[in-house]
Amino acid sequence: MKIGIIGLGFVGLSLTSVLSSKGYDVIGIDVDKEKREKIINGISPFFEPELENLLKKGLKKKLKISDDFSLIKDCDFIFVTVGTPQNTDGSINLSIIKKAVTTIGEILKRSKKKPIILVKSTVIPGTMRKNVLPILEKKSNKKAGKDFGLISNPEFLQESTAIKDTKFPHVIVLGGYETEFMKKAKKLFMKLHPNVPIIITNHQTAEMIKYANNSFLATKISFINQLSNICQKIPGANVDDIAKTIGLDPRIGKLFLSAGPGYGGSCLPKDMKALINFANTTGVNPTLLNAVEQINTKQLEQIISITKKKLGNLKSKRITILGTAFKPGTDDIRDSIAIELIKKLQKRKANITIHDPKSMKNTEKIFGDKIKYAKTIADAFSKSQCVIIMTQWKQYSKINNNNIKKMEKRIIIDSRRILAEKELVADYQAIGIGNNQ
Ligand code: UDX
Repeated sequence: MKIGIIGLGFVGLSLTSVLSSKGYDVIGIDVDKEKREKIINGISPFFEPELENLLKKGLKKKLKISDDFSLIKDCDFIFVTVGTPQNTDGSINLSIIKKAVTTIGEILKRSKKKPIILVKSTVIPGTMRKNVLPILEKKSNKKAGKDFGLISNPEFLQESTAIKDTKFPHVIVLGGYETEFMKKAKKLFMKLHPNVPIIITNHQTAEMIKYANNSFLATKISFINQLSNICQKIPGANVDDIAKTIGLDPRIGKLFLSAGPGYGGSCLPKDMKALINFANTTGVNPTLLNAVEQINTKQLEQIISITKKKLGNLKSKRITILGTAFKPGTDDIRDSIAIELIKKLQKRKANITIHDPKSMKNTEKIFGDKIKYAKTIADAFSKSQCVIIMTQWKQYSKINNNNIKKMEKRIIIDSRRILAEKELVADYQAIGIGNNQ
């Protein structure tokens, strides 16, 4: 059995590495030369725990990496894992996936195989039936369901646990027509992930499931963030105790109730915008989704307003940002709230120093020499007038009074409450804890 994977981002490269390390005959395709060269040499183009080890194992086995799409002509399964970015109006941009399936269709035309094409890329409901399927049939001059299979197979992996999530998904969704191809795909997934629930549905429902998942997670975060803002006005109230307690109610669940600076990353903000945009095109006014997004955008104002309250005019003030990655365990700064914060503080002419265990290089690509980069946590504190904790990296929970004593003004704003339990010699304000503003 041969497996082709098109697009080697977080989803594609994780799948490529997991399957090839198990000995499957995998061909990974990507058009980005720089990325390919790294992967071929066993180097991941982004930081993701465990990924490089598996990639190296795969390369020692049957894994091939190429930009030559024609190599998929012998594949039994072809996974499409290309990006679906957003247009400036928030709507989904399908140009990359359209291009990929056009090429797949052209190759199918010349192939004798009857492969199953599984689309993992996040696409708005209707895309498979209105765009992907017609392009494939037209370019291949073949019929879906007869000459090739087409299945929506949304992915739920999280960055920083991408390998674990790829190996042990909580659910498999297969959207499409109930054909022999569907049976074959189900068999593959049952073999790869015994005991994992498999939901078989139609394309449009599978497409919508992905948005339902991400928008529900975003809703939980905005809910707790709004509550955290209320808590801050109640002397002594603590949002974490509230989240912990309501999380014990099985109807609510404990995950994704951690208040903070708002959700970032390459998926949640983009998928929320795409769903809102899509809902509007259907004539449904997505009032709840709009509110979730608005709360998220406004959450950063909380941090800026506390900073201004503590420091007054921000011009020339030395402010340290701890953490620019959108969450710990990754070097990804796409749609990171910390990056937004830096931009906003720069507009107010503050002097910014940043520290992040993994994403300094990526941050430097945006800000160059306009900000300073502290090599160590100790350096980040030295002479700072205000430290703002944005990402809950484990190493930041070890911050102590020795660090704080090196500051010029001992102001700490903790958007993740990782120092909330400590006795600090600082003017400390945590997001979501009342009465110490
Ligand atoms: C998300 C979805 O979780 C995943 O299922 C989907 O496949 C891709 O998008 P990811 O982008 O890796 O995964 O990030 P996630 O872990 O969901 O975090 C998103 C943002 O929400 C981060 O900025 C994080 O800090 C924030 N967050 C998360 C909170 O502020 N509080 C929480 O309780 C959880």
